[in-house]
Amino acid sequence: MKKLSTVFILILLLKISTVMAQGNKARILVLIHSDNGGTYKLAKEIASGIESSKNAAAVIKQVKESSNPELKNIPVASVDELPSYDGIAFGSPVYFGNISTGMSEFLSKTVNLWTNHALEGMPATVFMSAGSGAGKELALNAFRNTLAVHGMVLVSNGIRGTENIDKTIPQGNTVLGVTSTASLKDVERPTKDERELAKIQGRNFAKTALALKGTFSKKQTAAVAQEKSQDINEVLEEKNIILPQVPQPAGNYKPFVRSGNLVFINQVALKDGKILNPGKLGVDVNEQEVKEAAKATMLNVIAVLKEAVGGDLNKVKQCVQLTGIFNTKDDYTKHADLMNAASNLTVEIFGEKGKHARATLGASSIPVNSSVEIQAVFEVE
Ligand SMILES: Cc1cc2nc3c(=O)[nH]c(=O)nc-3n(C[C@H](O)[C@H](O)[C@H](O)COP(=O)(O)O)c2cc1C
Repeated sequence: MKKLSTVFILILLLKISTVMAQGNKARILVLIHSDNGGTYKLAKEIASGIESSKNAAAVIKQVKESSNPELKNIPVASVDELPSYDGIAFGSPVYFGNISTGMSEFLSKTVNLWTNHALEGMPATVFMSAGSGAGKELALNAFRNTLAVHGMVLVSNGIRGTENIDKTIPQGNTVLGVTSTASLKDVERPTKDERELAKIQGRNFAKTALALKGTFSKKQTAAVAQEKSQDINEVLEEKNIILPQVPQPAGNYKPFVRSGNLVFINQVALKDGKILNPGKLGVDVNEQEVKEAAKATMLNVIAVLKEAVGGDLNKVKQCVQLTGIFNTKDDYTKHADLMNAASNLTVEIFGEKGKHARATLGASSIPVNSSVEIQAVFEVE
């Protein structure tokens, strides 16, 4: 018994120290704009350099959605989340010796952060993908202008790592931050050495971020503060809402697909392995029963959504649209009333973030004889 309790205490201590270690980690955002993927390649090296420190974690996000298949699944950052990090590594393509328009547009939305001193004292570093390399140092410097106005601590690369690079070919090393010259096709770009320099930059940046962690206040803008006020897991517990098991697909499709920051989900009224209140409204089921089915369907949608966000429903930013399809007779017109059961549940759980655009319609039949099917689109972090 004594042995058992010693083991239990040891496990508990181990768990507590793991949680504390995670809490002490420097969280670093690698924030990029990329058209063709060159900046993203460097970003992955920067992130791996950051994570070579066991006390730092990196997350790569982009400033806007991309249709490039290589980039389309990278999450999009919001301006309001920037103050929550311990450091930011900014990367963009060189556009005419300057930062790219996409990055510039994103930074131009940070006026509220600036006037709230929200990024002051936070470390920043910059890296860029160029074509020929014309004006690359001008561009890096231009990047730093904006960050200096924010009062960020600019971390340069200096000549770190340059002793070891192959000097017989053009390389993107600069004292401000690493670059790559994508249109010089003599060797694969970024070169092996540019990748290594990016890793060194990430590693060095993590060191600075760790040293400065806790020395600046992570000021929240009103939007961030409001967003953080409602813990969805607590809401579910308080309201005694129990999410069902994620229904398995009945054909050649996935329970959800994520494209950029949008998640697409379709569900029917499956409950405990069978369809709840099946059939046609006015023939097999009444309005109350269809409303119950709509609620069960929405719970299925939210269960799938939870899986799509890795188990943390706080990552849901907005319910964008719900479409409710009901098995009704030709002359039925009160679809909106039926759908309110699902809409109300969504707003009850997600608050403002649960308010959505909506369509409802009737169908002469619905798969597996469900009385309702719901299609949902959510925006997530
Ligand atoms: C509008 C525009 C201006 C550019 N200006 C420059 C430049 O001044 N110098 C340079 O080396 N490359 C320039 N480029 C090329 C990009 O910097 C290069 O293609 C870069 O690798 C793209 O990065 P990405 O792969 O992350 O999109 C320019 C590209 C565009 C679209």
